[in-house]
Amino acid sequence: MIIFNKSLPLSLLTGTLMIGLAADYVAAADAKFVAKNCASCHVLTQPEKDTLQDYMSKKGPDLYYAGNKYRQAWLVKWLQNPQRIRPGGMFFANHTEVTDEGDIIKQSSLPDPVHVKLSKGDAQDSAAYLMTLTAKSDLLAEESYTPKKISKRMGAMNFSKFKGCSSCHRDRPDYGGVSGPELYTAAERLQANFMTSYIRNPQAWESKSLMPNRHLPDKGVSKLVDYLKLLEGK
Ligand code: HEC
Ligand code: HEC
Repeated sequence: MIIFNKSLPLSLLTGTLMIGLAADYVAAADAKFVAKNCASCHVLTQPEKDTLQDYMSKKGPDLYYAGNKYRQAWLVKWLQNPQRIRPGGMFFANHTEVTDEGDIIKQSSLPDPVHVKLSKGDAQDSAAYLMTLTAKSDLLAEESYTPKKISKRMGAMNFSKFKGCSSCHRDRPDYGGVSGPELYTAAERLQANFMTSYIRNPQAWESKSLMPNRHLPDKGVSKLVDYLKLLEGK
């Protein structure tokens, strides 16, 4: 009995220690996998400064604040079955042609296939690692999005007519601009507080973003996110 009492805490301690070490080992392996397979196109550590040249030649979106941007479940799903998010590619001007009918996307210049596809295990591990990249947390600390019910019709009108978002973004697959990411999947992809923060001040996240800062009041920002949430799963 005495031996049991004494050895129990010790075995518990070594047990936790081993689990801790194993977790560190797994995390290091995930970091290595992502560095090896993803860093050629994605920035994984916060750069000191971002020039316009850097912005225009980005091969993929920055991932160094991925943990403050994406929903983990979406990452796991998308990495196994990636679909195009930016209809005009990373920088639309590199992929559009000016014609008499307006700008058209040169489909042949877009990467095909859309993205590397990961196995379920690699997708889960990469997503878990990406969620640990949490630069710019201070921006999210200022957000406190609380959902409100809005009508879809008013939301759509606000998005396209009043705020002009559809000149660059699509709120449905067949309507809207192509210079920004599609937004009918935004709520599935992105954390709500990231969306409010980005709409409030795009340049705080992407210093050279072409998206204008509209200096919207809290209510105006929330209304747009309410609308994007309404589109989830549509
Ligand atoms: C050859 C370049 C390339 C490589 C390698 C690459 N990506 Fe990407 N990635 C892209 C591009 C381009 C996009 C944008 C796709 C779009 O918008 O349609 C993207 C988009 C993403 C997105 C969605 C981001 C967003 O905000 O839209 C995630 C997450 C992602 N990549 C993760 C990874 C991971 C993890 C790896 C490594 C296993 C990886 N990528 C390797 C080019 C690459
Ligand atoms: C002049 C073009 C333009 C306009 C107008 C615009 N955006 Fe954007 N937006 C972009 C681009 C480009 C990005 C992608 C990141 C970047 O390069 O800044 C973006 C990114 C976003 C994102 C993050 C999406 C992601 O997947 O990373 C959200 C959310 C967003 N915009 C919402 C809006 C809303 C809401 C409006 C209307 C108030 C709007 N945008 C108006 C160009 C625009």
